[in-house]
Amino acid sequence: MSPSILNKKLPFHCLISAGPTREWIDSVRFISNPSSGKMGFALARAAKERGMQVTLVSGPIQLAKPEGVKVIDVETALEMHRAMEDHFQKADLIIMSAAVSDHRTELTSKRKMSKDEFPKSLNLIKNPDILKTLGTKKKSHQVLVGFAAESHNVVESAAKKLKQKNLDWIVANDISNKEIGFCSDQNEVHLIGAKGNCHQISLADKGIIAKEILDAIYPTWLEKAH
Ligand code: PMT
Repeated sequence: MSPSILNKKLPFHCLISAGPTREWIDSVRFISNPSSGKMGFALARAAKERGMQVTLVSGPIQLAKPEGVKVIDVETALEMHRAMEDHFQKADLIIMSAAVSDHRTELTSKRKMSKDEFPKSLNLIKNPDILKTLGTKKKSHQVLVGFAAESHNVVESAAKKLKQKNLDWIVANDISNKEIGFCSDQNEVHLIGAKGNCHQISLADKGIIAKEILDAIYPTWLEKAH
């Protein structure tokens, strides 16, 4: 990356989400997914190394906080939504790598429900689509990047999400392969751009994938910065 171009508009603000959300049913049970936060944290580290000012909104994970990065801990999708909205306006680059629970339960209990009290079925309410909401508010200088966790028709399904959520780029990963995607140290992704461009990033550590993602989307920042 050319420092001379970055220097024009320093500091670049980068807002990243990582990890899962937890939707509590009672005080000990929740709906969630296996996201470890590794992909989002690798992106935060890579953005920091490139001189950006980084805010990381993180669901509950077990990773050390990246040095020099402002970390905002959240648990639920609603909390993540609020934190992303609070920091969105100031951000130049927004990357949503979190695995947000699409649903929460209608009824929740602050205490542990006994086996007999626990309902036989749970009514679910849809959580807001955080990324889609941000897509409706995107300003011309902002670069908005989503992830797509797909188990089939990986590229086609991700391309649909790119359009539906008004993104500049989407990173598609195949979560049917246990060696990549959720929890693994490595990933292998397709990066699809709003202009129809597509890059494949081969199997590598998430740290390397993160750097390659930033490199690939760099021309979009340049374009938008002018
Ligand atoms: O955390 P790791 O263990 O390292 O795993 C990384 C990962 C697999 C979680 C990551 O690479 C990834 O794919 N993240 C996106 C997971 C996901 O929720 O994908 P999706 O296809 O369901 O959602 C598409 C996009 O919309 C995502 O950017 C997601 O953050 C966003 N979304 C989804 C639902 C919702 N209610 N609000 C959202 O903003």
